[in-house]
Amino acid sequence: MIQAPKGTKDCLPKESYRWQHIENVLRRTAAEAGYREIRTPVFEHTELFLRGVGDTTDIVQKEMYTFEDKGGRSITLKPEGTAGAARAMIEGKLYADPLPIKMYYLNNPIFRYENPQHGRLREHHQFGMECFGAKEPSADAELIVVLLRLLKNLGLDDLKVHINSIGCPVCRPLYHEKLRSFLRGNMDHLCRNCQQRFERNPLRVLDCKEDRCKAIVTDAPVMLDMLCEECSTHFSGLQALLKAADVSFEVDTHIVRGLDYYTKTVFEIIMQGVREGLALCGGGRYDGLVEQIGGPSLSGVGFGLGMERVLMELDHRGIVLPEPLLCQVFVVQTGEETVQAAFSLTQQLRAAGLKADCDHTGRGLKAQFKYANKLGIPYVAILGGDELARGVVKLRDMVSGEEQEINLDNAALQIVQIAAATEEA
Ligand code: HAM
Repeated sequence: MIQAPKGTKDCLPKESYRWQHIENVLRRTAAEAGYREIRTPVFEHTELFLRGVGDTTDIVQKEMYTFEDKGGRSITLKPEGTAGAARAMIEGKLYADPLPIKMYYLNNPIFRYENPQHGRLREHHQFGMECFGAKEPSADAELIVVLLRLLKNLGLDDLKVHINSIGCPVCRPLYHEKLRSFLRGNMDHLCRNCQQRFERNPLRVLDCKEDRCKAIVTDAPVMLDMLCEECSTHFSGLQALLKAADVSFEVDTHIVRGLDYYTKTVFEIIMQGVREGLALCGGGRYDGLVEQIGGPSLSGVGFGLGMERVLMELDHRGIVLPEPLLCQVFVVQTGEETVQAAFSLTQQLRAAGLKADCDHTGRGLKAQFKYANKLGIPYVAILGGDELARGVVKLRDMVSGEEQEINLDNAALQIVQIAAATEEA
């Protein structure tokens, strides 16, 4: 049997309602804050991610699905959503519209060649919100508040946001130097990955998950102590806004994020349900990205939320999402002579707005009832030869067992009313 590729996950029909419920909540909450949907291609020119995400990051160096297409172009499956959104924003000249430009993407498939393990997939899906052209800290605060609201709307409350500032091209190089001189003395004790990160991206050593690196960086110099005035004012502005909005947050100097485009604010929400501190969501400000990929000088801030991780967190907390009924009325036929009438009544019920179905597998009468029972279908409409001859259909309430006869002429309408009355009660 051919199996799904390692690190991918199917969403089967019996579980898709969970995704749809989450999608509805996310769409609604994003729209409340003035964000509209953007959809961009699953693949982009590799160059976009080299320039956007950064060629020193683990994502670009180790994890991208890159291939040459038949025209000899280097193509990469999206390893994250922000660069594509920024590219589309520039190409669509959205920056000429009144600023800021607020957008969200939903179920964006993201591909990373990672070591598949609990909560870490090679194809995952992100909901993300991006806001271009808003340089004020209120844009960062708004995103964090909206993020918490949408998680709360999903039943996920008491989550804490970890925030940090990683400075900008003015103050960060000085910090890099200071951090390098601190790490230089501990080089032999760092893991191999961090020894490589030392030159190209020393900040990343700060969020290494290896115990020995964690122990070393506890005493490392802190970026927050070296922020330039602009970054420092921005960060205190953000904190003041979050406090005013009653947001539970913690300044965490070890949040540095795994993508090169970040400037100033970075933030993460950590899952409660798993070891290892997996992130439920991560984001931050990226004031240089748009220019870096060929657009105008335009600030940006956003976040990405892992859909699969949201589902994991809901499971961990035992939160059950409302499962819609698959079918409200099942129309039972009693043999050849009533198949057509049952089929036609089913279509009428659907046209009247009910979820209706009938048998397509040649089941006998008893088996059709058994099927309706198994699926928890609340009503069965019985169309036997006798009913057909008398121009009626028998409607059985599968919970109470009560039956009533309904005139076939306007059966659909009457059944809709009966079903609606039951739902209200
Ligand atoms: P990221 O932190 O790499 O950020 O990913 C965002 C979220 O996607 C994570 O917090 C996590 O929930 C989920 N995620 C990441 N990798 C995996 C994986 N291998 N398996 C399952 N879920 C995963 C970004 O991608 C940025 N583009 C976010 C952003 C938007 N920053 C600004 N705007």
